Amino acid sequence: MSRGATRKKRISDLLRLAKAARLRAWAPYSRFRVGAALLARSGKVYTGANVENASYGLSLCAERVAFARAVSEGERKFSALAVVTGSREPATPCGACRQTLLEFGTDMRVYCANLKGDLLEDRASGLLPRRFGRGHLRKPR
Ligand code: THU
Repeated sequence: MSRGATRKKRISDLLRLAKAARLRAWAPYSRFRVGAALLARSGKVYTGANVENASYGLSLCAERVAFARAVSEGERKFSALAVVTGSREPATPCGACRQTLLEFGTDMRVYCANLKGDLLEDRASGLLPRRFGRGHLRKPR
């Protein structure tokens, strides 16, 4: 397989897993289901879906569920994240999820798709300019 074809397959596999994860969302309040699939550098994929709560503010986004699963399994480096929603336009990660994504590096690819197959592509670094990062935690001399 050519490099381009391998890349295409990697993206479509990840989107397929995110789409399947979306069906496992618990979203009785918003009825907006989100699925995520996170590809670690190890080659393993960790999926996530949004998990809502009757106490609305406790709801978890699909992306952060995927990250929590992966990081708590020992993963630290990631190559790509796919997010699938049923919206008219593909939905991109919320601000809190962007901050979480960037905790683990700036060169991750982010693929956002809807069920019609529209696709947005970005690098994590493009999602959150002037972000707060670990560098800010250094104390001034
Ligand atoms: N949601 C996500 O799972 N990911 C996002 O990036 C945006 C929003 C979820 C949270 C809530 O359960 C529902 O979508 C509506 O906001």
